Amino acid sequence: MKSSIKAKVTLVGAGPGDKDLITLKGLKAIQNADVILFDALVSEELLSEIDASIIKIYVGKRCGKHSFSQEEINTLIVENAFKHGHVVRLKGGDPFVFGRASEEILYTESFGIPVTVIPGVSSAIAAPSSQGIPMTKRGLSSSFWVMTATKRDGTFSEDLKFAAQSSTTMVILMGVRKLNEIIKEVSKYRSALTAFAVIQNGTLQNETFVIGTLANAASVTSNINKAEPGIIVIGDVVSEHPSFFEEEVQRMLYSSL
Ligand SMILES: C[S@@+](CC[C@H](N)C(=O)[O-])C[C@H]1O[C@@H](n2cnc3c(N)ncnc32)[C@H](O)[C@@H]1O
Repeated sequence: MKSSIKAKVTLVGAGPGDKDLITLKGLKAIQNADVILFDALVSEELLSEIDASIIKIYVGKRCGKHSFSQEEINTLIVENAFKHGHVVRLKGGDPFVFGRASEEILYTESFGIPVTVIPGVSSAIAAPSSQGIPMTKRGLSSSFWVMTATKRDGTFSEDLKFAAQSSTTMVILMGVRKLNEIIKEVSKYRSALTAFAVIQNGTLQNETFVIGTLANAASVTSNINKAEPGIIVIGDVVSEHPSFFEEEVQRMLYSSL
């Protein structure tokens, strides 16, 4: 390592997708980086606006592309910090929401490299919110619960069952592939008329949105591309979406023909 190089790492939350939803502090950090290691869910538009002299390395884990293991990412962070100085680890949403930030921090700090975290706007809130779905609403829901449906071994998390038994707004990340099973599980505890929505690529140009009730979920979601990242929101607050009643009325009309 050259003596003038000061290794340091900043974990930055890039926000949910729309390039303008990064924080000012996050933007300043990436503009002052020597190297940016970025995830699959980070906006290409945001990266294209960053000075071309800053080294940008893709370290995503999306299926279909080369997948970097967590160990490889940890090593790249440390190697690049020693070689180039300031590494920004740019992560989708907020680094601490299903982001494995703690592992990256622990590994980096074990080499004596200082780490700073700049929070980001999590897709868990931004995707529903930008669609006009409130996470809480007086009289409808007094809490929201952000969860992943399945555990490491692929079985349902107990949290999903507990949340389904309460009246909380359920916000499920990394669950689109298991959508049918999730709906089936939640339907054991909640009314068939409970509203749900699936938002994929939220806040991006290619955002898609479907809305329905647990009862008609199978037909509503039949055309979803399950390979795209998405958020499932289940709860009475979803019926606050402007198109909920209109779509329900249309479906009732068609089903009675
Ligand atoms: C590994 S988690 C990372 C979450 C991220 N740290 C955050 O705070 O948004 C990835 C999951 O977040 C959700 N996700 C992230 N960005 C999204 C977006 N723009 N639209 C919908 N879902 C998104 C999807 O459920 C995806 O599978």
